[in-house]
Amino acid sequence: MAKINSHYQKLQAGYLFPEIGKRVRAFAAENPSAKVIRLGIGDVVLPLPGPVLEAMRAAVDEMGGADTFKGYGPEQGYDFLLQAISGHFKSQGAHVEPDEIFVSDGSKCDTANIQEIFATDNVVAVTDPVYPVYVDTNVMAGRTGEIQGGRYGKLVYMPTTAENGFDPEVPRIGPQGSQGHVDLIYLCSPNNPTGAVMPRSSLEKWVAYAKSTGAVILFDAAYEAFITEPGLVRTIYEIPGAREVAIEFRSFSKTAGFTGTRCAYTVVPKELMALNDKGEKVAVHGLWNRRQTTKFNGVSYPIQKAAASIFTEAGSKAIRENIAYYMENAAIIREGLKAAGYTVYGGVNAPYIWMKVPGNSTSWDFFDKLLKEAQVVGTPGSGFGSCGEGYFRLSAFGFRENVLEAVDRIKKRMKP
Ligand SMILES: Cc1ncc(COP(=O)(O)O)c(C=O)c1O
Repeated sequence: MAKINSHYQKLQAGYLFPEIGKRVRAFAAENPSAKVIRLGIGDVVLPLPGPVLEAMRAAVDEMGGADTFKGYGPEQGYDFLLQAISGHFKSQGAHVEPDEIFVSDGSKCDTANIQEIFATDNVVAVTDPVYPVYVDTNVMAGRTGEIQGGRYGKLVYMPTTAENGFDPEVPRIGPQGSQGHVDLIYLCSPNNPTGAVMPRSSLEKWVAYAKSTGAVILFDAAYEAFITEPGLVRTIYEIPGAREVAIEFRSFSKTAGFTGTRCAYTVVPKELMALNDKGEKVAVHGLWNRRQTTKFNGVSYPIQKAAASIFTEAGSKAIRENIAYYMENAAIIREGLKAAGYTVYGGVNAPYIWMKVPGNSTSWDFFDKLLKEAQVVGTPGSGFGSCGEGYFRLSAFGFRENVLEAVDRIKKRMKP
């Protein structure tokens, strides 16, 4: 009989969102007239903007013409999109060559797949709380032990809490194999779920750590477009030396409303090296290229055309308006909760508000209370890791009237 990959059996059941769904359904069944407002899942609500639709439609028409029809495209993405993305990095003060960019169908897939080009005995570091994809894919690959008390063995968890300003502490520099040494480091800034942005000084420390130890930083910048304050780091390649140690992931999902349309990209600079089992340096770029050309067939032409449209003047303006709408929601939630007496974080440079649960209640206690008293759905912080216990995430991805009503209900019915 065939054998399974037993590492899958170490995985905790997909608990968070199914459990939220179950509790909301039970509440709705008992309270059929209640108007439940969902600020839990981080999915966009605004439709694709006009310039994006126009570009997509024109590309669909091209697919219907004998002279303009496209079959298989380059697995890495069409040149028009790679050039546009490279230009965008330039406008943000970073140097990224078009052939260092790999267009894909999502940052979820890319942040999930990237680990397979690295050895299974690498030590992996993640923040706690964390975007669960980083953890689960390393569990599947066998880089972790069993789960105990909500944490997998062998994985290095870096707490990010109010106490350290949601900024993960850099491990002590030591050679591979030494106590505290890590090889693959997942960082996410602006962060899901905490809404925090890593300061430049801390990214400089991480790059210095990676350079001196040979570690690789996997930098998830899916929410980069939501940074509103000037001077904050939008791409890790703004940090000198980062091209030698970091891979960056970016997505059109939240930036341009592509969660259903699907398009993202990953940057693997050509300077980035890692060791093979003979101790020789190998360019990671070539490995990712090999991986993608073997396992991925590229994103469809109309979707890449639609994605490229956001780098035009009209496209960029349209998506900035949508982002501003969500960030106005974030401000309404943040200020409303503050005025009601809650302690809140995030929501300034990220579409997530991370609030402290009042008193000694757990994240799930607060979830139930919020649902019962205000008919508002959020996400319990403990679902993102044990350091998320006692916190709660509200998403700014909602229609304005719902956000206003949710905040009003919380203010009136949920004094901390
Ligand atoms: C931190 C982070 N990275 C990546 C993703 C995945 O984005 P995509 O839709 O491009 O797969 C998300 C989506 O929620 C996210 O929150």
